[in-house]
Amino acid sequence: MNQFRNELKEEDEASLALLVTRTGVFSDEEIAIARDLVRETRLGMPGADYLFLIADGIAQIDGYTCYGRIPATDNRFELYWIAVDPGSHRHGLGRALLEASEQDVRRRGGTHLFAETSTRDDYAPARRFYKANGYSFYAEVPDFHADGDGLAIFGKRL
Ligand SMILES: CC(C)(COP(=O)(O)OP(=O)(O)OC[C@H]1O[C@@H](n2cnc3c(N)ncnc32)[C@H](O)[C@@H]1OP(=O)(O)O)[C@@H](O)C(=O)NCCC(=O)NCCS
Repeated sequence: MNQFRNELKEEDEASLALLVTRTGVFSDEEIAIARDLVRETRLGMPGADYLFLIADGIAQIDGYTCYGRIPATDNRFELYWIAVDPGSHRHGLGRALLEASEQDVRRRGGTHLFAETSTRDDYAPARRFYKANGYSFYAEVPDFHADGDGLAIFGKRL
């Protein structure tokens, strides 16, 4: 399908937690959630219908996506996580992971991919990244995460 790995290994829980920590934008609670999604998926826990694409680097994981079908929608999918190690930013890895995820979603019958992010200044690269990859900015919900930290909703018809 692509050059990325989709099977999870036991050590991915710690490696992906380290990766998302290194990006510097996620809270401890969000990092714990990222970790939980890996563990629940790897163990096949009920409701853990998450899909992963992982870019293995030489000594670490360089980037990954986590996405899945949105329950009770007509083949809409959501990108739950995308993160690239800061040492690999702006070399096209994020785009390659996103395109491979879109391709996989299409293959599964998905027609749309949505991505939610923050309106905070430190998420400006993420918002530019989505726009640069053909995502429309659909809505902003002010103060959604916290005062001054709104929700920004992007999406793309695949
Ligand atoms: C968003 C993220 C995944 C992008 O990964 P990346 O590998 O650096 O992105 P790419 O190199 O594929 O960039 C593709 C295009 O997106 C845009 N873009 C990416 N980062 C950008 C930045 N910091 N500033 C401006 N534009 C940016 C550019 O148009 C870029 O093309 P170009 O480099 O040819 O100009 C990465 O910055 C990241 O991991 N951020 C922290 C985690 C995060 O915010 N995740 C998303 C929100 S949940």
